[in-house]
Order: sequence, then structure tokens, then C-alpha cells
Amino acid sequence: MALKSDSKIIIVGAGVFGLSTALYLSKRGYSNIHIFDRQPYDKNGYAFLQGADAASADENKILRASYADRILYQNLAFEAMGEWQKWNESIASAAPVDLPAGLSPETMLWNQCGYLRLSEHGLDESEKQTQKNFPAEMGHTQYRVTNKQRRADAARDGIPATKIDPFGRLERGLPVDGILDMTAGFVLASRACTFTLHLCRKAGVHASFGPEHALKSLNRSGINVTGIETSDGTHHSADLVIVACGGWTPSILPQVEELLETTSGSVLSIRLPQDRRDLWAKYAPEQFPVWDWNMGDYVPFQNIGGIYGFPRTPEGVIKIAFRGAKWTNYSRESSTGQPLSYPKTDATKVPQEAMRVIRAFCAENLPDLLALDLEYERLCWYTDSVNNSFLIDYVPGTEGLVVASGGSGHGFKFLPVREHVVDVIERKDTEYTRLFSWRDVPGGKRNGLEEGPEGWRRLDKQRLAGKEQWKAASKL
Ligand SMILES: *[C@@H]1O[C@H](CO)[C@@H](O)[C@H](O)[C@H]1NC(C)=O
Ligand SMILES: *[C@@H]1O[C@H](CO)[C@@H](O)[C@H](O)[C@H]1NC(C)=O
Ligand SMILES: *[C@@H]1O[C@H](CO)[C@@H](O)[C@H](O)[C@H]1NC(C)=O
Ligand SMILES: *[C@@H]1O[C@H](CO)[C@@H](O)[C@H](O)[C@H]1NC(C)=O
Ligand SMILES: *[C@@H]1O[C@H](CO)[C@@H](O)[C@H](O)[C@H]1NC(C)=O
Repeated sequence: MALKSDSKIIIVGAGVFGLSTALYLSKRGYSNIHIFDRQPYDKNGYAFLQGADAASADENKILRASYADRILYQNLAFEAMGEWQKWNESIASAAPVDLPAGLSPETMLWNQCGYLRLSEHGLDESEKQTQKNFPAEMGHTQYRVTNKQRRADAARDGIPATKIDPFGRLERGLPVDGILDMTAGFVLASRACTFTLHLCRKAGVHASFGPEHALKSLNRSGINVTGIETSDGTHHSADLVIVACGGWTPSILPQVEELLETTSGSVLSIRLPQDRRDLWAKYAPEQFPVWDWNMGDYVPFQNIGGIYGFPRTPEGVIKIAFRGAKWTNYSRESSTGQPLSYPKTDATKVPQEAMRVIRAFCAENLPDLLALDLEYERLCWYTDSVNNSFLIDYVPGTEGLVVASGGSGHGFKFLPVREHVVDVIERKDTEYTRLFSWRDVPGGKRNGLEEGPEGWRRLDKQRLAGKEQWKAASKL
């Protein structure tokens, strides 16, 4: 059935995939859009510390176009940067009363502070491909940290030396190599969601948030999905239902079980004390970049790698995350009887291996943080797809049902370039609708999904580390 501009479209899930889909559907002229979420995002402002529970509810996310040989994603990321810039400008020029709570004209959703990708020796294969595939005219934005000439160029370009050597490794003669990529930086995630929700509402999207509006079931008639039932017992009919439920998607749609796995990264947060102006200055985005360390070269229980971190937020929060191992929690059974990894979002401890890696890195590179208290430990649950490409398509074997998920840890940055999702919904054939399309389950390695419940990454196979294990005085 072809959609009409007044067809009723229900979106389940108001994280970044659902929100941006609502916004771009309305921009394309659809006028009957309804978004549901069990969480009161309109009240908690997508703030994790206010109880918002989703990967999108986060201080910040990396915005980068470094995608090795995945040129379509690279191009889309550059396009996204332009759109984020427009959002920055429209917020800066808005009257405060026209902005949602939590945002002011000073809010910079997108901060191009630079992204420093480091390892001990040389550039890894993926960085080499990124450097080869970046447009030639962007060469001047890429600074090899071991190249004296490029360091001098950076100084001439007004880039503080601390962005190239924030850990003092060059200065101390410790092994280090990598690229400072000045096209990249971070976006403020929870605030970007709040802003998008605000734009959606202005565009006439209906939002129903809170536990009573949680999805209970999809209403089906044969192969047709005809609407949803929410937990308050209300039936909502729809011409199209879009499921954008992040880490909860596989538990709602058995069809995606073999294509998506719910996994989590480990996040630690530190809030700088108000009286440590030295640290506020050191970790400010003007002085300190987004960084990562040994992203492609982590060996479980052996070395230090697979970690990244951010400059402080405007509120003085520093986030460091470990994604070398992506934890699973095969605690559920799917409707087809398969073991299913399911978000375990009330966890207040991360696995000891994540603590070991981040702590060891900080001991060598950011010892001042080890003297401060951890604010929280968090497992950030999301979905990986079998090949790290998003899964946005009609669900095979059904009518009227689209899935938008599989963020694979790199989806947030594309918030303002989601018209491709509308192309999927309108069944257009473009290079992006093909990129996001339903795929066969590959043989062999499948991004870790092949391990399934037998894998070592299961949470119940880990020892967990409490906050007290952070401080320098304690031993792991
Ligand atoms: C983001 O927003 C501010 C305006 O508030 C602007 O000055 C800044 O250059 C923006 N863009 C980036 C890429 O940082
Ligand atoms: C499914 O929807 C189509 C129209 O899109 C309709 O022709 C068909 O009868 C429906 N089937 C069922 C079982 O409701
Ligand atoms: C479910 O959808 C069918 C087909 O559109 C409709 O006849 C039925 O009333 C719906 N059920 C509920 C409980 O809304
Ligand atoms: C799910 O996570 C919790 C730890 O947060 C753990 O107690 C439970 O055993 C996990 N289940 C599996 C099967 O990993
Ligand atoms: C992943 O699957 C999609 C859909 O089949 C395909 O277009 C894409 O090229 C695949 N690989 C990657 C690395 O995205």
C-alpha cells in the first residue's frame, strides 16, 4: 500500500532513530505522525542522571567522518557536519523562549574540537584507509602527531599543542603515533534529542511518552501490521508502524534476531570539582580533543585498547568509555525460543576488565583523574548489526512494518541527515537505502554475533568493579 501524506504513521521509540525519522517524515510532508515511548523524555530531558534509559540519553557522542573504506558513511558524516553546523547557528540566533528547557542560545550542540586517534606504533590499517579516502582538499585538517612539520603547522594554524599531545606522551618520550583530525569532534547527545523533539512538536508530530504509552504488542492481521496496543490497553491503528527501539528491538521483532545483537559499552564518568579550575581549563574542548587509544588493537585481559574519551562538558563532566569488549546479557528467550541478549540497564557496575583498561590508561596518561571520584559507571546498551551497517528497511514477510535500528555504536551523528530513512519508507532505491537494507546472515565472522550466548562477553561471566576500585589508592 502506498503511503499518502495523511497516512497514519506510528513510530515506537523516541531515541535518535525514532526522533529523527519523525522529523524527516514531517519535513517530507507527512502530517499524521505519532511517536510513542515508555520513557518520559519530555520530563527528564533525555538526561541519564534524571533516569533516561537509552543509548541516545548520553552526555556526548563522537562526530567524525573517519570511516576507512566505507565511503558512503564517510560522505554522509561530512554532510551531517554541515547540518549540525546549521543547528548550531539556528540555536545561537534563537530567542531563549523559542528553545526547549535545557538549551540556551549558548548551547553548542556540535563542537568541532578535533579527534585524536592514537596508538603506540604507526597508523593502523583503518586509519591509513581513512587518510587515503578523505577528500584531498581536507589534507590540511589532518595532523600526524609524529611529524614535526605537521606539529609546527598545527601551531601555525592556532591549534593548542595540548590537542596533539594531551597525554604528554611525545613530551615524555613514550611510544605514540596517530592523527589529530580537525574535521571531527563531538555532539551533545541528550540536548540534541531534546532539540529534535522540540522541532518535531513544532512540526505537529504527536508525542505520547510515559509508562502508560509503552508498546505492549503489535496488532497484526495476517501479514499486515495494523497498529499497536500500548500498556494502558489502548489500541492505536496505523497505516505504517516503525520500530526504533534500540537495544530492545530484537526482543520486539524476532525477525531481526540473527541480524542484530544487543550489546553494551562500558562508560565511566567523572565530574570535575568546582574548585579545580586547573582541571576545568585543561579538559576544556578549546584545549583538549576527543581521543581514542588502540581502537583496533585490544587483546582481552592483556593490553590497553578499545577506549575513547571526551573533553569536559559545559557542566564539567568527563566521559571515558571502553568498547574493546561489547558485553552481552543473554537473559531472555525470544518468541521463537532463541536465547536473546537484552539490555540490563539498571547495572551500576561495569566489568572489571573495562575498569582495568581505563584505569591503566589513566594511570599512565591522565593520572589527575584517578585522584577524583567516579560519578557513575554505566553500561550503555545498543544494537550491533552483523556488518555494522544500520538496519532500516521493511521487515520481510510483513506489510506495514519498518525497522530502524542497528546503530552499531556509530548512529547518533547522523541525526540531522535522516531523509534516507524516508526514502526507505517510500521504497526509493538509492545507494543509502541499499546500504541500510535487510541483509542475509553472512557465514563466518559476523561482528561477534556468531559467538551468541557461548561468547566470553556475557555479563554473567564477568567480575564487576565497583566505584571504589577507581581511586589511585585502591588495587585491582
Ligand atoms: C557551533 O556553534 C557555535 C555557535 O554557538 C559556533 O560558533 C561554532 O563554530 C559552531 N560549530 C562548530 C563546528 O563547532
Ligand atoms: C492486508 O492488507 C492488504 C492491503 O494492504 C489487504 O488487501 C489484505 O486483505 C490484508 N490482509 C489481511 C489478512 O488483513
Ligand atoms: C487489529 O487490526 C485489525 C485489522 O486492521 C482490526 O480489525 C482490529 O480491530 C485491530 N484490533 C484491535 C484490538 O484494535
Ligand atoms: C544479565 O546481567 C546481570 C548483571 O548486570 C547478571 O546478573 C545476569 O546474570 C546477566 N545474565 C546473563 C545471562 O548474562
Ligand atoms: C552490510 O549490509 C548492507 C545491506 O546488505 C550492505 O549494503 C553493506 O554494503 C554491507 N557492508 C557494510 C560494511 O556496510
